[in-house]
Amino acid sequence: MNPSYSPPMMKSAMPASVLSALLISLSAALMSSSAHAQSGEVVGNADAGRKKVSMCVGCHQIPGYKASFPSVYPVPLIVGQSGKYIESALAAYKKGDRSHPTMRSIAGSLSAQDMADLAALYGSK
Ligand code: HEC
Repeated sequence: MNPSYSPPMMKSAMPASVLSALLISLSAALMSSSAHAQSGEVVGNADAGRKKVSMCVGCHQIPGYKASFPSVYPVPLIVGQSGKYIESALAAYKKGDRSHPTMRSIAGSLSAQDMADLAALYGSK
């Protein structure tokens, strides 16, 4: 399609919509972390994940949509993989056990709660 397409995160100027989406996801993250505070265990929430997925869809397919994005990199399909697998893959990028530079920097910015929420959204139940 458009050969000059680059993922949204690569652009330097952040449109206001992205900024407000980030603010919404931040407050959602704060709310969900207090909701789970009593259990002491990280429980993924697909609705919370929906608000964090904007930083993934530039490369990985949007969960719930069949249409594919113009592909820029050879990116693995993560929709429908097991949630546990997705969560542990993200943790491995963050820890450095997996070395892909882009995924490492992305996973490095995610909390355990973010990973669980994204795994709940992308993963099969
Ligand atoms: C800039 C493009 C890009 C973005 C943005 C991106 N990814 Fe990735 N992702 C990749 C690539 C490329 C790989 C394959 C890396 C490798 O070979 O280790 C990958 C691998 C993965 C894997 C491992 C898949 C497998 O089969 O082992 C998971 C899980 C994953 N990404 C989740 C995410 C999530 C969740 C987000 C958003 C927070 C995200 N990615 C954002 C490009 C991206």
